[in-house]
Amino acid sequence: MDAGRDLNEFFQFSRALVQQRKEQPGDDYPSKLLEIRGGNDEVLTENEIICLVFGIMLAGHEAVTAAMGNIFHALLEQPGNWARLVDNPALIPSAVEEGLRFNSGMFNWRRRATEDVVLGGVTVPKDAKILVSLGSANRDDRHFADPHTFDPTRANVREHLAFGSGIHVCIGAPLARFQMVTLLEALVREFPRMTLIPNQTPNWIRTICPRGLTTLLAYPNGVAHA
Ligand code: HEM
Repeated sequence: MDAGRDLNEFFQFSRALVQQRKEQPGDDYPSKLLEIRGGNDEVLTENEIICLVFGIMLAGHEAVTAAMGNIFHALLEQPGNWARLVDNPALIPSAVEEGLRFNSGMFNWRRRATEDVVLGGVTVPKDAKILVSLGSANRDDRHFADPHTFDPTRANVREHLAFGSGIHVCIGAPLARFQMVTLLEALVREFPRMTLIPNQTPNWIRTICPRGLTTLLAYPNGVAHA
């Protein structure tokens, strides 16, 4: 019930945003969609615009937040990973890719079979709804050597499925990569001694698709300076 209420509140926020841009257009996505619509329901309805704005804000915010927390967790939990980036910041883009593989922000994703298909000896019938475990594929030891180890120097570090695959592959992947690399570069530079606060129990959000932490506590300047 709480989740439903939150989701509805967020939808109402998106509706109000579109209404506000209708009255005062700006240089942004909802204003552009309204301009394309030109008052014509045949092109786009107002409700479709609200849904698009709702979808992109959710996709853009939730997945990056989850993925970023997961990367910090991987980097700070295992001793040496953070220091490795401090010593060699050029490794940061690969660390972001490895973080996405190691613990993707979007753990599972939906698919519907458009025709009968045989996968791993199992026939998936046309129209079947499937939950694809991207997180599991990203730890497949037939594709990634030593898959449970976080290693930004692995040769095939970019070959993960964290952003999906095919015609609906994540449209925001370049933006997500840019945000994550920028944030990591700034924090590695500013807080080279960052350490996790010990004895905290990671609290993973209880959903099927996004996988992220609700909190992750760290001493920005290391234990001695906390
Ligand atoms: C680390 C961050 C992100 C992760 C892990 C992620 C993951 C995904 C995944 C797994 C899909 C489904 C792909 C498929 O069906 O094959 C997807 C689709 C999508 N993502 Fe992302 N995403 C992230 C960031 C973003 C950002 C920043 C935006 C936009 C600002 C965004 C917008 C979208 C949209 C619009 C789709 C639907 C694309 C379509 O159906 O054609 N995502 N994302």
